[in-house]
Amino acid sequence: MDLFTSATGNEYDEILSLRRELEEANRLYYIANAPTLSDREFDEKMHRLIFLENLHPEWADSNSPTQHVGSDLGKKNFEQVNHKYPMLSLGNTYSEAEIRDWVRKLPENVEIVCELKYDGLSISLWYEHGVLTKALTRGDGLKGDNVIRNILTIPSVPRRIEGEQWPDFVELRGEVLLPWENFERLNRQREADEEPLFANPRNAASGTLKLQDPNEVARRGLTCYLYYMLGDNLPGTTHSARLEEARKAGFPVSDAIRVCHSVEDVMSFIHYWDTERKLLPVATDGIVLKVNDLTTQQQLGYTAKTPRWAIAYKFPAEKQLTLLRKITYQVGRTGVVTPVANLEPVQLSGTVVQRATLHNEDFVRQLGIREGDRVWVEKGGEIIPKITGKAEDSPTDASPVPYSFISVCPECGTPLVRVPGEAAWRCPNETGCPPQIQGKMIHFVSRKAMNIDGLGDETIALLYEQGLLHDIADIYSLKLADIAQQERLGDKSAANILAGIEASKKVPWHRVLFALGIRMVGETTARKIAKRFLSIDTLQWATIEQLTSIEDVGPQIAENIVNYFLDERNLSILVRLREAGVQMESDQPDETAASDLLAGKTVVISGVFSRHSRDEYKAIIEQNGGKNSGSVSRKTSFILAGENMGPEKRKKAEDFGVRLVTEDEFLEMINPS
Ligand code: IVH
Repeated sequence: MDLFTSATGNEYDEILSLRRELEEANRLYYIANAPTLSDREFDEKMHRLIFLENLHPEWADSNSPTQHVGSDLGKKNFEQVNHKYPMLSLGNTYSEAEIRDWVRKLPENVEIVCELKYDGLSISLWYEHGVLTKALTRGDGLKGDNVIRNILTIPSVPRRIEGEQWPDFVELRGEVLLPWENFERLNRQREADEEPLFANPRNAASGTLKLQDPNEVARRGLTCYLYYMLGDNLPGTTHSARLEEARKAGFPVSDAIRVCHSVEDVMSFIHYWDTERKLLPVATDGIVLKVNDLTTQQQLGYTAKTPRWAIAYKFPAEKQLTLLRKITYQVGRTGVVTPVANLEPVQLSGTVVQRATLHNEDFVRQLGIREGDRVWVEKGGEIIPKITGKAEDSPTDASPVPYSFISVCPECGTPLVRVPGEAAWRCPNETGCPPQIQGKMIHFVSRKAMNIDGLGDETIALLYEQGLLHDIADIYSLKLADIAQQERLGDKSAANILAGIEASKKVPWHRVLFALGIRMVGETTARKIAKRFLSIDTLQWATIEQLTSIEDVGPQIAENIVNYFLDERNLSILVRLREAGVQMESDQPDETAASDLLAGKTVVISGVFSRHSRDEYKAIIEQNGGKNSGSVSRKTSFILAGENMGPEKRKKAEDFGVRLVTEDEFLEMINPS
């Protein structure tokens, strides 16, 4: 359906569902840094919603996502500050014709400044009396998070501005970015650390800017370009003159700026950068057009969300038509079966694409694609190629047979199940399906679980194929010769692997529980469960009620745990792990046992902790005879200091010479061994 044809269906329902969808997409984009819609999909849905709302003013709603910008405000980890001037977004289009139209409607002979549209996140820098005092994110457009400590890690951002021409208050706006090179380095590091990868530099920059540790921010290497100046009595009467002043004052202003006098000038700028931008060190996703003269800007004014004096042209994602040769199915480590498009190889943004995920059954059905179709492959800012549609005259258009997903697991032949409410088909044969068995082993040896050095994915696959590993317990029966005789593995790596296996017997109970790979039992949840159930023997008999009374454990997780212990095969694995010497119980005494070890002590808690919550620490202090206090004074005995302790408390602690005690030191203190 064309975007702007008015559907005959229920437009009110469509408006409501678009609003819901766009709100959720905003949340995922700005808060979770894990977008699910591509920019293009988002923009198209937004344009459709704007169209429908214009068609039906009677259904207007001031809470609609068309009426406000998405919010990136975090969970109050930063000081929130009201913007002096609201931070708006820009109207955008993918159509050159609309750009021509926009230019045509401007007053005659106005100059238009063309700039690159940097694809990072916007930042507002406040210079008060010449000194950089605040750096605010866009937030909800009206107030933002003050991330100045992180911005100060960017060397090109001036700490102060000097000269008579600057008024007491100057605001500069720009974009914070993570250059391609640093983005790739960061993702390589995250891969090694088994952390989820960032989908693109924008998400990586956004995640980085919201970190609490400026040292880590500095290591990642953000950069910044400034493109807008605000304030009273600023020098210059045009936008370009102001940017020039900013550049002279040492601000990082891009060179890729052109003052255009005609729509043809604008178009040539757009076409030039559409290819040239690929050589830039940072991500760009379009061109911004701005009316140069500031008085004309004022006359044109603003809508609720965007200035009328500026617009963005967005570059189309690169796309190609190619043949969908075959749909194959991949079984993941958790048993999820994913359809994969096997394509006739095609060149796209410098790489050859021959496979692309089709996500799940619904995705394939929505696209209406079948083997033998010619399909569109796109590569946008998301980096990973995707299939976005099929050619108009596809051979399967006339086919009456609907697409159907496979019904049995391609790896083990077990009938697949589709969990209600989930999009995925899953192979339920957790303990007998090869990729799932290997997946469990890979998880078991991973760094945050048993941390068995040297036993990587490939070695596991090799040993599995040779019949030396059938399940995680087999790892403890491996012999030096078994490993050493493998291709690419000599005596030295074999000895190394065995040493790693031996060392893993010391891994504490909560990590062993995580390593077992019970569905949905992550690192933190395992820690909490292990604290409540101090051994596998007590956990085995835990009821759903007991389990759900633990923080973070919902009914689904509880059920997964109970089911885990109902499976004979798991029980036999557990017996063998215990026999091998793996820790199946906590060797830590109950940390919260009462004592008078803190009698007469006044303790201040500050920061974030990993082993107990703040409230738990308060209780532990009292149980051990101590007193809690909210503020640091001369009477404070010590500060129980977690991560990211507040700067004020830190300063007072220094002033009064109060000792900082880490979480581990504290637990040691009340549990002397
Ligand atoms: S001007 C009131 N110029 O794009 C106008 N924005 O989609 C303020 N952006 O929020 C924005 N490059 O984060 C402007 N050269 C540029 C830009 C730019 C990137 C971002 C900015 C803005 C978003 C709108």
